[in-house]
Amino acid sequence: MQLNLSGRHALVCGASQGIGRASAIELAELGANVTLLARSGDALRAVAETLPRPYAGQRHDWRSVDMLDTAGLHAAATDIAATQSVHILINNTGGPPGGPAHTATPDAFETAFRQHLLGNQTLLQALLPGMRASGYGRIVNVISTSVKEPIVGLGVSNTVRAAVAGWAKTLAGELAADGITVNNVLPGYTRTNRLDGLLATQSKASGRSEDEVAQGLMATIPAHRFGEASEIAAVIAFLCTPAAAYVNGVSIAVDGGRTRALS
Ligand SMILES: NC(=O)c1ccc[n+]([C@@H]2O[C@H](COP(=O)([O-])OP(=O)(O)OC[C@H]3O[C@@H](n4cnc5c(N)ncnc54)[C@H](OP(=O)(O)O)[C@@H]3O)[C@@H](O)[C@H]2O)c1
Repeated sequence: MQLNLSGRHALVCGASQGIGRASAIELAELGANVTLLARSGDALRAVAETLPRPYAGQRHDWRSVDMLDTAGLHAAATDIAATQSVHILINNTGGPPGGPAHTATPDAFETAFRQHLLGNQTLLQALLPGMRASGYGRIVNVISTSVKEPIVGLGVSNTVRAAVAGWAKTLAGELAADGITVNNVLPGYTRTNRLDGLLATQSKASGRSEDEVAQGLMATIPAHRFGEASEIAAVIAFLCTPAAAYVNGVSIAVDGGRTRALS
């Protein structure tokens, strides 16, 4: 199986922690040069310094950008691609705040659209020429199982994730002939700072301890445990390899079997 990514350049967004950081580690382990992107420069520098370099000449870099700053994001992506064409794009960023859809302000939808869909589109347009020229492109969007079963209490997120899924499926049809695949990974409950925040919020709202809240959530998962960021990252990294060339336009849940939908 051809899993080697040496000579490839990956841009991993939301890479200062959690699933993005874990993805950067897996891609570096497979040989890619990795550029990390998020807002926190100090955290990115620390991740970049510890990324694996198993192949001679492998180098990693980082860029501090707020994905809400569309013009800044475009400038950064163009600059990154000018150094070395980007072959692998991991679209990943913080999840929108919770709450029902009917109480969310129009601004909340607009912000989430800008951070997720417009961010992805901005990066795509900056990086596509390089992917086309090299005949190799892998775009993986980290979204949510809500694209199969909308999640109660995540109204803005459910809406924006569905838009990203529709965008991705459309692109998968448009770009496949150029050697570019576009897929989505849907994490289940995964041990990251975001999950810690969710447990704290639900604990406060319900009066139960965080451990009781965690046990309640785990009871909904056939695997009876939360996922690790590295387990999500392993699937993301596989989708970026030559071996995954014929996997295109799919949404893969990595959730311990929690999503009950058939497709
Ligand atoms: N963990 C779960 O259980 C779970 C389940 C389903 C779906 N997901 C989704 O999967 C994605 C990753 O989850 P995670 O748990 O790894 O999240 P996380 O720990 O909150 O990490 C989010 C990453 O995005 C970056 N980020 C946030 N806002 C940004 C912005 N405006 N511009 C640039 N970078 C930004 C953060 O870095 P900075 O703060 O430095 O910018 C961080 O690196 C999220 O969309 C999340 O909703 C997670």
